[in-house]
Amino acid sequence: MSNDTLTHLAAHHGDFEDFARLMQQTASGRFNQVWWGVWRQYVAPVLPTTGTVVDLGCGPGGLFVPLRHEHPQVEIVGVEVQPAMVREAQTVAQSVGAQVVVADLSQPLPLADEVADVVTLAHVVHELPWPLPLLREAFRILRPGGACLVYDWVRQPLQSYVDGSEITEDLLQHFREHCLFTPDDLAFLCTSAGFSVQEVIGRRGGRYAMVILSKPERI
Ligand SMILES: C[S@@+](CC[C@H](N)C(=O)[O-])C[C@H]1O[C@@H](n2cnc3c(N)ncnc32)[C@H](O)[C@@H]1O
Repeated sequence: MSNDTLTHLAAHHGDFEDFARLMQQTASGRFNQVWWGVWRQYVAPVLPTTGTVVDLGCGPGGLFVPLRHEHPQVEIVGVEVQPAMVREAQTVAQSVGAQVVVADLSQPLPLADEVADVVTLAHVVHELPWPLPLLREAFRILRPGGACLVYDWVRQPLQSYVDGSEITEDLLQHFREHCLFTPDDLAFLCTSAGFSVQEVIGRRGGRYAMVILSKPERI
């Protein structure tokens, strides 16, 4: 793992333990009825009963429990590098029979080609200063015909991002990182990694977007 990655994450997240707790507390808001509605429509149809879901940047494993309820027999693999997140994810993984791979998403992933039926990237793409190699890796590990779900912050006016808080240098830096891409930019970035875009859905008043992707079948 690169020290640069942990330094970058520390600057973005602040205290690792606090941020891991925050991500766990807020997970049900991200993986809510809208998420599962999209999932059932676009993702579940290509996920075999005993297929494999790889959650890149799984954080504290907030997706693991609801995913296990939704698909009792699938293999769940989370990938994470930040130590406090890894610890929490490993505890959750044990309780639902998932697996956590400790790896830096800015490097080639220690996962085989086409190992996943489904790949998820929830609130992760914005965290990489150079996200294209990660999207290419997501494409590589996905089998043809599989689905990838990218859910992330997207561009919004500064006023709505600030939402009444004090404007600080730190907040502006987060604005740069969270609000770089429009939903279409995010989708375009994914196509340049090889994916086909199925749908782009705005979420939570346009502050976030879900991009539903597929990997074309071989002809
Ligand atoms: C905002 S959190 C979202 C966590 C989880 N996907 C969720 O929605 O609950 C982003 C996660 O991506 C992880 N992450 C960011 N860059 C990473 C990298 N280069 N390698 C591994 N994990 C990374 C962070 O440590 C963090 O846990």
